Order: sequence, then C-alpha cells, then structure tokens
Amino acid sequence: IKLFIDSANVDEIKSASELGVISGVTTNPSLIAREGRDFGAVVREITTIVDGPISAEAVSTDAGPMIAEAEELAAIHPNIVVKIPMTGEGLKAVSALAQKGIKTNVTLVFSANQALMAALAGATYVSPFVGRLDDIGYDGLELIKDIAEIYDLHGLAPEIISASIRHPMHVTQSALAGAHIATVPYKVLVQMLNHPLTDSGIEKFLSDWAKVPKK
Ligand code: E4P
Repeated sequence: IKLFIDSANVDEIKSASELGVISGVTTNPSLIAREGRDFGAVVREITTIVDGPISAEAVSTDAGPMIAEAEELAAIHPNIVVKIPMTGEGLKAVSALAQKGIKTNVTLVFSANQALMAALAGATYVSPFVGRLDDIGYDGLELIKDIAEIYDLHGLAPEIISASIRHPMHVTQSALAGAHIATVPYKVLVQMLNHPLTDSGIEKFLSDWAKVPKK
C-alpha cells in the first residue's frame, strides 16, 4: 500500500512529505476552499513539493466542460491526475480523457458497481469514500474489499484509493482489504506515527542513559 496526503495545505503537505512516506496528494474543492487561495496557484505549489500523482478536481457537471477543465489542469504538470465525480457525465469524460492519455481519479464512489463502471470507462484511480459510508451506518471497509476482489478477479486496472479516512484503523484496515493507496488527512498521519508506549519508552531510555557514568 502507498500513502497519499489528503490536503491542499502546503505546510501540511511539506511536513508530511519530509517524513518520506508520502507518494502522492489528493485535493478536493472543499479542501481548496479552506485555503482561501487561487486553485491553480495551490496546485502548482503542490507539484513543487511532492513528485507523485496530484489529484485536482474538475467542478463542471457536463462532460464537455469537464474535459476542457481536465485538459487545463493536466497542462499544469505531468503529475496532475484529474478528479472526476462518479456520474454519467463523469464517465463520458473519463473515457474521452483516457483516450487523450489524461489520468483520472473517479471520486465520490460509494458502491462496487460504480467502481466497476469507473474501471471500464478507463479510470486510472478510483476513490471509494470509507468514512462517509461509515458516517451513515454502512461499512466502508467492506466496499474496499469488494472492489479489490472484483478488480482482482476480472483483471481491472485502476488503483484503489481508500479515501475519506477518519482514523488510523481505517488505514490498517484499508491495507488489509486490498486498497493500493490510502489518502490520509495530516492529522491522521500524525496519529499513525505516534504511540504512547514509544513516548514512555524513549523517556525511560533517556532517564536510564542519564545514570550511565560518563568519563
Ligand atoms: C478524497 O480524495 C477526498 O478528498 C477525501 O478523502 C474526502 O474526505 P472527507 O469525507 O473527510 O471529506
């Protein structure tokens, strides 16, 4: 499994990237809005921080304008992956973009059939939203398992990005369920690396070390 950071905040992306465990970035219109900055400027800056797939979302709802937006986004940098919402118009755009060699990440995926259709349309990535399913009483991780099994059984190409991650267990379970990538908010990334026994262990080692006679 690979880890991406789910953020449009360049400070968070820089800190995460310094850990050496992040190989891509996902953004969405809500994350961009939080920054209060120009979309293109944020995306361009992210491309200078992380050398890997960077998802930027198209906001048009019809296939034609979506394709035009995708072409503009893809022209920013070769690492840009265009996020396309899982709708009929979105699928039309995905198949046209696949023919033009533009990579797509089909987002807002909440069922195995949606993931199947995204794959058949030529998506490069699919993003099932685990946390948002859990929020309404469904099992987001079951969806990851189902998609992984279907893609495996039928040799379907997209990489599965486990998205809408709420806590560290979502990451562990996504890895076990067969996701290729988990896209993780900065807060969860920090939670993943910390453990109280690590902290108390360091404290004990340092206090014992202080007792070692020094020349
Ligand atoms: C995925 O690419 C989305 O940006 C994100 O994971 C959505 O998460 P949320 O449900 O916390 O908004």
